[in-house]
Amino acid sequence: MIKLTQAYRLLNHGPTILVSSSFNGKQNIMAAAWNMPLDFDPPKICVVIDKKTYTRELIEASGSFAINVPCVAQVDLVTKLGSYSGRELQGTDKFAENQLQTFAAKHIAAPLLTGCVAWLECKIIPEPHNQNTYDLFIAEVVAAYADERVFSNKGNGQYHWHFEGHDALRTIHHVAGGAFFAAGKSIQAQNT
Ligand SMILES: Cc1cc2nc3c(=O)[nH]c(=O)nc-3n(C[C@H](O)[C@H](O)[C@H](O)COP(=O)(O)O)c2cc1C
Repeated sequence: MIKLTQAYRLLNHGPTILVSSSFNGKQNIMAAAWNMPLDFDPPKICVVIDKKTYTRELIEASGSFAINVPCVAQVDLVTKLGSYSGRELQGTDKFAENQLQTFAAKHIAAPLLTGCVAWLECKIIPEPHNQNTYDLFIAEVVAAYADERVFSNKGNGQYHWHFEGHDALRTIHHVAGGAFFAAGKSIQAQNT
């Protein structure tokens, strides 16, 4: 479990994410490149969720969603989950159809996707104007977790990404048209 005041660091480097959702027995997951941290404490994030998505319907109904931070090993899956709608599926969902493994969140109904490198449980702070005009959702992060192989506390309470030796676990950053960057080498400024 990541200290909530450090949760912003999971998104501060701008990864493409997967937004998972659940309401009334229905669940779904989609890709979202347009997301960012918004505040430290209590931690807040924002993400653009288009009106036409099934995700939008489920997150507005439930008031919550999960951010799953995927990695290089999942780049084709991310593109696929962002290329069709769960609304079209009859008697199944994107999780079953793609044989995805999940585990339960602590505070929200949305499932968390196994194989990702970080997870943030988010509760929507309703802002109808932003949602309707800009498709922009602001949410408070109520729990956060990460794969300690690539994101951990060096003993001083300060968490950092460190991907060296774990190329398949590097986070992915969408540019356009299925082209991504993988997170690169970490460097530390000395004057901090
Ligand atoms: C790499 C990638 C990034 C995307 N980023 C966003 C985004 O930031 N916001 C958004 O609304 N849709 C985004 N999309 C599109 C949605 O993922 C797509 O509309 C998806 O099919 C919606 O699924 P749903 O209807 O099952 O919720 C992205 C798609 C891809 C492939």
